[in-house]
Amino acid sequence: MKNIISCEQFNINELEEIFSLTDSIIKCPSDFSSLLKGRLIATLFYEPSTRSRLSFEAAALRLGASVLGTENALAASSAYKGESLSDTIRIVAGYADAIVLRHFENDSAVIAQSVSEVPVINAGSGSAEHPTQALLDAYTIYKHKGGLKNLSVLLMGDLKYGRTIHSLLKLLSLYDGLVIYGLSDAELSLPEEYVELLENKKLVYRKINSIFEAPQKIDVIYQTRMQKERFEGENVSKLICTIDNNLLNYFDTETILLHPLPRNQEILPEVDANKRSLYFMQARYGMYVRMALFCKVLEVL
Ligand code: CP
Repeated sequence: MKNIISCEQFNINELEEIFSLTDSIIKCPSDFSSLLKGRLIATLFYEPSTRSRLSFEAAALRLGASVLGTENALAASSAYKGESLSDTIRIVAGYADAIVLRHFENDSAVIAQSVSEVPVINAGSGSAEHPTQALLDAYTIYKHKGGLKNLSVLLMGDLKYGRTIHSLLKLLSLYDGLVIYGLSDAELSLPEEYVELLENKKLVYRKINSIFEAPQKIDVIYQTRMQKERFEGENVSKLICTIDNNLLNYFDTETILLHPLPRNQEILPEVDANKRSLYFMQARYGMYVRMALFCKVLEVL
């Protein structure tokens, strides 16, 4: 695996290898602590981040690599002076062994990959993709539901601009027997290309207007925030459903609740202690999944 650009690049065997390696790292992290000794990882973030940047950096450090980077590249790198993304990537590829990139343009990771001499990992590209988030989301489901086949999944919130949803659908659509329910404001519904992706794989997509149209025994609820930064002046109060304990307890005891975070008002803090709520665990898995991804991309295992 040379780069991680889009979830379109993965097959089931590769996912299972990543999940199995993540399991091994979680079991005994010290076995992996010097695999990247002497390597240098660059993190270039043109958009704000807590989880992705810090978990990538923690993952690199826990594998023995060093890290350099910029957390506010639009203002703090020569992008401010008009330098193109391509030029920046060419320069940084001369300093580092891999580049982790978050950027506001949908095609940023593809552009970076096309000019980089070192592996590029997409840590979020506009509203298009967030492949490593999807990998950690899929890992959380695999871990807590025992696999990814024959699942029912409710996707909620901003299905139009939510890049984590778009990437996750590409991974889930590899598996048979999937039924997806989509709940959002009418203006934030799932783009047609993703509905077609599911239909072409003979999977079921059901657009619903109320959370109570989803089955009580649903396997996974995946809630997301409104991607306000992508609305460009539109009215942003489009939250269709807030999850509180009463609502979550309406669902089966085996239903799990995920969220890529950060959250705003779409999951109340009272829900955090509910045993169905896995979003903080999901974020923690992210570091281990990203350790596995560094091992794969830098071919040290
Ligand atoms: N889930 C996610 O990408 O979070 P950050 O924006 O904090 O990285």
